[in-house]
Amino acid sequence: MSDRPEMFEGADRIWMDGEFVDFEDAQTHVLTHALHYGTGVFEGVRCYDTEQGPAIFRWEEHLDRLYKSAKPYDLDIEFSKDELTEATTELIETEGFESCYIRPIVYYGFDSLGVSPKNCPTKTTIAAWPWGAYLGEEALEEGVDVMVSSWRKHASSQIPTNIKTTGLYVNSMLAGEEARRNGYTEAIVLNKEGNVAEGPGENIFMVRDGEIYTPGLAESILEGITRNTAITLAEEMGYTVHEEATISRGELYTADELFFTGTAAEVTPIRSVDDNEIGEGTKGPVTDDIQSAFFDVIESGDREEWFRYI
Ligand SMILES: Cc1ncc(COP(=O)(O)O)c(C=O)c1O
Repeated sequence: MSDRPEMFEGADRIWMDGEFVDFEDAQTHVLTHALHYGTGVFEGVRCYDTEQGPAIFRWEEHLDRLYKSAKPYDLDIEFSKDELTEATTELIETEGFESCYIRPIVYYGFDSLGVSPKNCPTKTTIAAWPWGAYLGEEALEEGVDVMVSSWRKHASSQIPTNIKTTGLYVNSMLAGEEARRNGYTEAIVLNKEGNVAEGPGENIFMVRDGEIYTPGLAESILEGITRNTAITLAEEMGYTVHEEATISRGELYTADELFFTGTAAEVTPIRSVDDNEIGEGTKGPVTDDIQSAFFDVIESGDREEWFRYI
């Protein structure tokens, strides 16, 4: 195991097309269609160590999104939702994870290498490994410094942006790396019209005068599951949420609060944008309410409809 990248040290097996294989044997050919053309769809899911034991958060919603993502590309997933659920729970159980990140991916495999994937098989793989806070523990408390990227998000007339296609993440990588090269933790990406879309791997929320705003699906955003969780929790706490908002760049700078949501980033406050302090430059009270409600749910695990217990 010595040459295993540190990130995956805790993982022994991966599920590939119906079988569990040793981590080192989970290989694909270099002429795989998806490697050349980005023709894969995937999910990022978390299993939490809740008071009810390990439980996958919003598994059904992630699975539904995986199948939706596959649809426009005619990726015919050869396994049923029940089979993928069984594979995932067995993987977590046998690996002995209390909490982990789960990465299902479905992609066009190895056969022909024209742009048309005509004869390429559809490959389905599920991996899981322990993974802590994506933007760092400190970020959850103190917030992150972000910049507006010079890269724009694809328009949804160019490629479906509401679903999770591997090829889309070239844009995310460019934006995120530009931000980090310039000393920021993360980027905010504007859409083709110049309005706020989302982060490279996060949805974004804005708080103004006690009300909550988040860009709508037509703004070139992923239909985030944590976004939906945050909206649900905020509404339950009595907040007004404008979930089809159009947010201009200027509104970012004058916002009372901003925060990111995502499976990896969870609920992360944003403390500055392009070196402009947001609010008091710390986690704001509305962000704190939503973040606390979010962590209460995942720590207790007692909201049954959102968990699949292992
Ligand atoms: C581009 C993008 N936007 C938003 C999100 C947040 O989505 P979710 O909350 O479903 O993880 C992600 C992460 O998956 C993402 O990659």
